[in-house]
Order: sequence, then C-alpha cells, then structure tokens
Amino acid sequence: MEKPTYYITTPIYYPSSNLHIGHSYCTVAADVMARYKRLQGYDVMFLTGTDEHGQKIEEKAKEAGVTPKQYVDKVVAGIQELWQLMNISEHRFIRTTDDYHEESVRKIFKKLYDKDEIYKGTYKGKYCTPCESFWTETQLVDGKCPDCGREVTDAEEEAYFFRLSKYADRLLKLYEDNPGFLEPKSRVNEMVNNFIKPGLEDLCVSRTSFTWGVPVDFDPKHVVYVWVDALSNYITALGYGNERYHDYEKYWPADVHFVGKEIVRFHSIIWPAMLMALDLPLPKKIYGHGWLNFNGEKMSKSRGNVVDPAILCQRYSVDAVRYFLLREFPFGSDGNFTNELLINLINTDLANDLGNLVSRTVTMALKYFDGKLPAEQTTDPMDVELIQMASVLKHKVEAQMEAFQFQNAITETMKLVSRTNKYIDETAPWILCKDESKKGRLAAVLYNMLESLRIASILLTPVMPDSCLEIQRQIGAPDELCTWGQAGRFGLLPRDVQVTRGPNLFPRINLEKELAELESHLPSEGKKAEPAQPQSPAKPAKKEEKEPVEGVASLITIDDFAKVNLRVATVLECERVEKSDKLLKLQLDDGSGTPRQVVSGIAAWYRPEDLIGKKIIVVANLKPAKLRGQLSQGMLLAADVGEAASVIFVNDGIPNGSKVR
Ligand code: ME8
Ligand code: MG
Repeated sequence: MEKPTYYITTPIYYPSSNLHIGHSYCTVAADVMARYKRLQGYDVMFLTGTDEHGQKIEEKAKEAGVTPKQYVDKVVAGIQELWQLMNISEHRFIRTTDDYHEESVRKIFKKLYDKDEIYKGTYKGKYCTPCESFWTETQLVDGKCPDCGREVTDAEEEAYFFRLSKYADRLLKLYEDNPGFLEPKSRVNEMVNNFIKPGLEDLCVSRTSFTWGVPVDFDPKHVVYVWVDALSNYITALGYGNERYHDYEKYWPADVHFVGKEIVRFHSIIWPAMLMALDLPLPKKIYGHGWLNFNGEKMSKSRGNVVDPAILCQRYSVDAVRYFLLREFPFGSDGNFTNELLINLINTDLANDLGNLVSRTVTMALKYFDGKLPAEQTTDPMDVELIQMASVLKHKVEAQMEAFQFQNAITETMKLVSRTNKYIDETAPWILCKDESKKGRLAAVLYNMLESLRIASILLTPVMPDSCLEIQRQIGAPDELCTWGQAGRFGLLPRDVQVTRGPNLFPRINLEKELAELESHLPSEGKKAEPAQPQSPAKPAKKEEKEPVEGVASLITIDDFAKVNLRVATVLECERVEKSDKLLKLQLDDGSGTPRQVVSGIAAWYRPEDLIGKKIIVVANLKPAKLRGQLSQGMLLAADVGEAASVIFVNDGIPNGSKVR
C-alpha cells in the first residue's frame, strides 16, 4: 500500500542577514512536524530554501564589491550549515537562483499574462526596499513602511499588474468555507479587516529599475516581482513548469505552509489568488506563527540583540535548544526569549525531570539487579494509574501535534515524566530492596519506570532526536520497540530487559555563572563570539579563593557549643522538593521512634538515591522552619567544598540517636 503523503514548507529566507534564533524557530518547528509525520508512516516532503532575488540583494552585493550571485552563494552556504547544526532532517532545499526555478517562474508569469490575469500599466506608488514591498499612500504609517517603519521611496514606472482586486470575494469565501485555511484564527480577522475589506488593489508584479531577478519572458527589461518569484517556490520545487523534479502530482497541494506573522498577508492573499488564476489547487493550510523577541524587542541585527543559535547549541546541545524553542512559547503567539528562561527550562524540565528519571532508573536497575531485571515480577494496584496515563498519552500528544500546539504536546509527555518520578517516590525502591521477598515487586517497579521512559522517549523523538535515541539505548529498548505506534502500548519491553549506563544527558547549569558568560558572548559590536565549551559542566566550578578562616572575635565557649544538639540519624526516605532546584526532603530515623523531616539545600549535588540508607549528623534542636512550604526540623552537617556541599556521612555501626560532641 502507498504511504500517505505530507508536504510541509517553511518560508524561503532572504540571504541578506545572519540568521538568528528567531529564524531557526520556524525551521525547527517544521522539522519537528516533518519528523513526527515520518514516524507516523507518512511520505514527507519537507521544503525550505532561500529567496535570493531583488533590489536589496543587488545593493548589498554592490556594497560588498561582488556580483549578486557571489554574494548569495556565500550566505546560502552559511544557512545550509545552520540547518545542519540544528539537526534539520531530510529536506529539499530550493534557491530561487536555481535554473529550474527561474524557468518555471518565467512560465508562470507568461501563463498569467496569456490568461489576461496580468496586464501592462504604469506604477505610481511607494516602495520599501528593505521589505521589497509596494505600498499605496493610504497603507503607509506616518509616511513610512507599515511593516518596518523605515523610509519608503517614490516609484513610477511602466509595469505589469496582476488582477488581484478581482479575487477579493473569492478570498473572503475561501476563509469562510475553510475555517482551517488560515490559523491561528486571529490572523483571519486581520487579513479581512486590514487588507481585503478596505479594498484590494491590483498588484504590481514587475520592476524595471534593477536587474537582479527573473526577467519577464516576453519583455526582458522587466524582472518579476520578488514575491511572485518567491511564492512560486512551493510548486516549482516539486517540478511545476520544469523537468528538474517530478513530485508535483504526488505532493501538491501542500498540507501546510509555516510562515511568520508578518508574511501571512502574502501567503493568504497573493498566493491563493495566484493559484486561483493559474487554476491550481490551494494549499490546505497557512499557519502564521509568532515572533521570538529578545528582552522585549524584535530581534534584529541593527539592534545588536541577535541571539546566535550556534553559540546556544554549542553550550547546551542542539536538543536542549530545540526543546526550549517549542516548549517555552505557544507557536501561534509571540514569545520573549531570555537566556534566563532558557537555562531555567533546561534545569527544571531536562536536568531535574527527564535527565534525572533516566539516571535514577538506570542506576537502580544496575544497583539492584546488575542491569538485567529478573523476569518474575509482582504487579500491584499502585501501578494502575501510571500505566493508564502512559497508555493514553500517545493520543493526547497526537491531538496537540495535529493542531500545531507543540508546547502542549511536550507538556503532556513531561507530565508522564513527572508522574514517573513521583511513582518512584511512592513505591520507594530503596526500601523494597532491603527485603529479599520483595525482589519481584522491586523488579516490577523498575520495569514500569523503563516502560514509561520508552513511551516518553518515542513521543519526544521529533523534538530531541539524538537524546531520545540515547535514552532508548540506556534503557535497553531496541529500535523495533520504539516505532511511533508502539508509544501507544505499555509493556512491550521484555521483562528481563537489560539497561546500560550512559552519559548524563542534560547536566545542570549554574544560572548566575552561565548568564554572566552569555553576556560576554552577545555579539553586540559585531564581534565574533569565541567558541564556547561544548557543554556546561555538571558541577559548578570551584571558587577561586578559599573562605577566610573564622576570626578570633567569634570564638565560643564549650558551653555555647554544648547548646547544639547533634545526633546520628539514618536517611529513610528522600525526594526532591517540587518546583525547587535546590531542595531535597529527607525522612530521618534519629532513634527517637518518630521520623524527623529535614529539608536540605543539596539537590544540586546529591540525588535522593545517593542518600537513602546513609547515616548522617543532624542538628536536632534547630528551630523548625518551613522551606517551600515543607517543614524542616533540623539540618544536616555538610562541608563546603568550593561552591558544592559535601554531606558528612558517618560509620554504619553507630546507632541512630547517638550524641555527637
Ligand atoms: O520574509 N521570530 O524572509 P525572511 C520568529 N523571503 N520568526 C522570525 C523572526 C523572529 N524573531 N525573524 C524572522 C522572508 N522570522 C521572505 C519569505 S516565503 C515565499 C518568502 C521569520 O528571511 C519570518 O517571520 O525575512 C519569516 O517567516 C522567516 O523568518 C523568513 O524571513
Ligand atoms: Mg521578512
């Protein structure tokens, strides 16, 4: 049986400026969608590329003292490198300077002219060169370009016009009959109220004042307007009007064009009208995503607030950056990028939740069973909720993905990750392991943890392909148990699954130190940033200088010291405090008969399983305090080692409750 097809596109990028993290946003989102559809079994065509013609490029090349083609060749190579860096999966890359595309554009223009959809006239109006946009007097804002606010110039010349005005009614009907044609919904109102209702004018589609473009076939002193040239890419890349490709029948109409909100106008008015004029089917959907701003301002090179994706990927891994882009902001709305948000999200979601779950699971399987679980396992009603949640997750994720709600899709999966961490705390494997008769139960708990991770790793694969593969390797899940469909079934791993220890996937980042370093990387004066460390260290760096030794002024008497009641205690249970990077909550046996709860700021250096069963010293007469709403009755003794804390462990032979003095 033939696979169903899925055709998704990004805009084709102007090669005039360095790409920043905002540009990567759309391409990463489209890649996630492409990978998702491929995993589901679709035959996916994923198109991206570069939009290389126009006056702006001609001017830039002149400034640089090179030909336009030399200019674009160089920049385009950098763009292709960026997509490689961002782990953009198999895609077709179109350049509007490719011969086959130019040939098709000439044919499209000619066909429109032959059908009297294009006619010759005189153009009088305003032109914004940076945006390559014509504006009428009434569209200007304070006499300036309504898109970018820059100066416009007078333009008057013989020109060809496309009969856009006659499509107003058909466009209105298109939006009405197909509510899904343009999303999110808010963008429809904008198009109707700001552009169509005030009256569509015919569109000037040729220029004679410069030459860097596709010449009009039958009147070569004209070049085709860049937007007609650019929009055509979505079909020329499939072979429409050329012999370079033969996929038009297979993939057109596109399932979705992803575009930034400022170019929705071109995609939902000019593009469908062009297709109507050519008697071609319309794309099924235009999705207008929001902008990533930086500290509240639009990212732009001239503002010096361009965030370099290469630096971010180098420091945090490409998967962490991809995760951040889609998890932090709803796709349809604008988002405000800050380094702090990025680092906090990596620490909470990836280091504390996902990374920690992987390392806990693998560590325990190795510690209790040498990595291979026994096949005899005991299930418990306690498992039902987790299994239920994991089994229905795939459907929830799919529903969100189909609506391009990447943020929600990821959140659904991360709920399972959190639930599994909680399941560990509920089932307390560190207690089960003490009782030989509970080995079967302990194995079942570990098995359920592994299954949860298998399912979560499949569902996160489109977003973080490399990390999810590594999770699957560590938990011993072979490829054939990690197809998309198998995310919908719990219990597929063999009962005697074998795990393997691997690298820490998402090391915690020291926020303050990292922010300071990132500041120094801001390429504000156009200076090239230094290559950064490949990954931030798992542990904060040691302090340069030692703490000064306490001065004589603070000497105390033996009686002062005797006021401190120090006792030996065993850690019975330990878990992270929710929503805190720093705190662990411990239950201690201090020999008194009732467990003592202590909250300690050591989560950056210890995992709960590192502490359980160990003997420590507790300050037993400290005034109780609440930390993050959790009661803390005392504190653990720990040594300061650089910025890290090293807990003082004591000999196993010392009974709980023994006084320390
Ligand atoms: O517009 N956040 O190209 P382009 C999110 N060549 N998206 C951003 C962004 C940001 N900070 N900055 C830019 C063009 N983008 C035309 C397209 S398609 C037939 C022709 C997005 O290089 C922007 O919204 O100026 C647009 O979708 C894409 O990057 C390319 O922008
Ligand atoms: Mg633009």
